[in-house]
Amino acid sequence: MINPYLPMPVTVTKITVENESGDLKTLDLVFNEKKDAQSFKFICGQFAEISVEGAGESPIGIASSPMDEDFIQFTVKRYSRGVVTSALHNLSEGDRVGVRGPYGNGFPMKDFEGSNIVIVGGGFAVTTLRSTIRYLLHEKNRSRFKDITVLYGARNPGELLYKSELKEWEERDDITIHITVDKGDEKWKGQVGLVPNVLKEAAPSSENAVTLVCGPPIMLKYTMLPLLDLGFSPERILTSLERRMKCGIGKCGRCNIGNKYVCKDGPVFTYKQLQEMPKEE
Ligand SMILES: Cc1cc2nc3c(=O)[nH]c(=O)nc-3n(C[C@H](O)[C@H](O)[C@H](O)COP(=O)(O)OP(=O)(O)OC[C@H]3O[C@@H](n4cnc5c(N)ncnc54)[C@H](O)[C@@H]3O)c2cc1C
Ligand code: FES
Repeated sequence: MINPYLPMPVTVTKITVENESGDLKTLDLVFNEKKDAQSFKFICGQFAEISVEGAGESPIGIASSPMDEDFIQFTVKRYSRGVVTSALHNLSEGDRVGVRGPYGNGFPMKDFEGSNIVIVGGGFAVTTLRSTIRYLLHEKNRSRFKDITVLYGARNPGELLYKSELKEWEERDDITIHITVDKGDEKWKGQVGLVPNVLKEAAPSSENAVTLVCGPPIMLKYTMLPLLDLGFSPERILTSLERRMKCGIGKCGRCNIGNKYVCKDGPVFTYKQLQEMPKEE
């Protein structure tokens, strides 16, 4: 029997420092075994457990797209007292780590073919939305979806992730992208404003649309009302929850909210499902 807790060995092939404060790095990982690369099939919005010998393992959302065949990417925020995230930040190219997964339900993008897609992201929770945007814009997928609108906000220009990709997306005419920062600087020529306010101004149509929203809890709280006002139905607003996890596969009972395991039934839930969940203490 295959041990589900056994990580697959991968090698770090590239490390990108994403932000000015340097606490967000993207790791490109390549499977050491061809059979592992072939078996690791994921959809946008899923996560994996990444392990570093001697430090432990952490659930991290998959930031690359399922269409990226040669590598998988994870963008990791280092917490000053965080054992695993610090160990991940101390890695060098050529180092080996472990990956097990993919886990969680992810965004059911196949179900949304033929729909308009509105993506709202804030802070570093944007990682799995980046996976989704890459997936949507892939030449094999773009025609399956209608209009794509992206709203992405960061605290300041230095905290915007995936900067070169943002530029590429802004230059395309098959995606509308609104980038905003809470506070600009002398070089920033773009929009300044909080995500919920920019959303109200941009007012994307809710007709035949589904929206994926990921961000810090405060952003989520203030984004839901404008979305409902714009006519998005709670069943068509999807978000991803972050919880303390251990096993990642619905066995240890660490991550449940009521009768739902965030690792297995989630981490993606509709706003309707969230409203039906017991409120946390
Ligand atoms: C489904 C899912 C997807 C995730 N995706 C990502 C991702 O894409 N990128 C990413 O960087 N992280 C992601 N996380 C969060 C990540 O798993 C945790 O930050 C990580 O496990 C922390 O491990 P650690 O050993 O470094 O910290 P620990 O040693 O467990 O914690 C030490 C201290 O660090 C601080 N800390 C740790 N985690 C957090 C946190 N989440 N928020 C605030 N303070 C914290 C606390 O002060 C804590 O006491 C995800 C979590 C889940 C459940
Ligand atoms: S993390 Fe173990 S049940 Fe969810």
